[in-house]
Amino acid sequence: MYNPFFGLRENPFNLSPDPSFLFRSPQHEEALANLIYGVQSRKGFIALTGEVGTGKTTLLECLRDHLAGHNIAFAFLFNSQISRAEFFEMVAYDFALPGTKFTKTEVLFALNNMLLERARSGNTTALIIDEAHNLEWDVLEEVRLLGNLENRHGKLLQIILAGQPELDAKLDAPKFRQLKQRIALRCSLNALTLEETLSYIGYRLAHSGLPEQRIFSPQVIAQIHGYTGGIPRLINLVCDNALLSAFAGSSHTVTPGMITEVAKDLRLTPVSRVSEPAEVGLLRG
Ligand SMILES: Nc1ncnc2c1ncn2[C@@H]1O[C@H](COP(=O)(O)OP(=O)(O)O)[C@@H](O)[C@H]1O
Ligand SMILES: [Mg+2]
Repeated sequence: MYNPFFGLRENPFNLSPDPSFLFRSPQHEEALANLIYGVQSRKGFIALTGEVGTGKTTLLECLRDHLAGHNIAFAFLFNSQISRAEFFEMVAYDFALPGTKFTKTEVLFALNNMLLERARSGNTTALIIDEAHNLEWDVLEEVRLLGNLENRHGKLLQIILAGQPELDAKLDAPKFRQLKQRIALRCSLNALTLEETLSYIGYRLAHSGLPEQRIFSPQVIAQIHGYTGGIPRLINLVCDNALLSAFAGSSHTVTPGMITEVAKDLRLTPVSRVSEPAEVGLLRG
């Protein structure tokens, strides 16, 4: 709505995990490099953790693009609140495995065949599970067992588990000792620093058609950092709303007063950041 007013080609602060918008902060860069390296060098299990809204799904989308461009077949499970039966069905569906009933036995048989065949021709295969902290114990156990499939040269299936920090806690449970020990690579994402927040906002605006943005002053960005704690999803929410209020007031710059208003509407406070239920709701959005 406000795009033409600010000279933007597209919406700079969309909430979708669009890989073309990836701002390569050092930690995002490192995490992505680790994910790619882990899959390509067939490390087995890789874990990616981070608070809600820090960019995990966006990184997985980047990984997906990379894998698709490198002949690495993958299944991507983004809904992790599933039963064991649904898990096997989804794996079968995503890998386009032959079969009709998709019982566990049928899927394991077809999957093993496919993995052996791909390994024989030197091809890598990956299973990506987003929101993995939500996996039920019995499903996580099946995931662990899939990670055991191997031939004499190594693991047949590379498994990426991405999720909120509760995932780490889950993997710390005594019954998942074995799985925990098998995680060959771990990456984590944290909130952006003030400096990164400045670059992040600049980058998203540049990507949307404004290479030299003058809408958000450094002072306003510091204020945004204070309210959002540097969590990208919250930064997007605040910036989007701020652009809307600037547009409504025919202003080409966002003022500190607008940020205060927006933060109030979104029920953000600089001190009690992620603890408020309303805000957690926003983050999950
Ligand atoms: N490094 C980044 N570069 C660009 N946008 C990002 C980055 N990290 C997060 N975002 C944006 O923040 C929002 C939340 O990211 P998302 O990947 O969904 O987080 P998570 O999966 O960790 O909850 C999305 O709009 C996404 O585009
Ligand atoms: Mg996500």
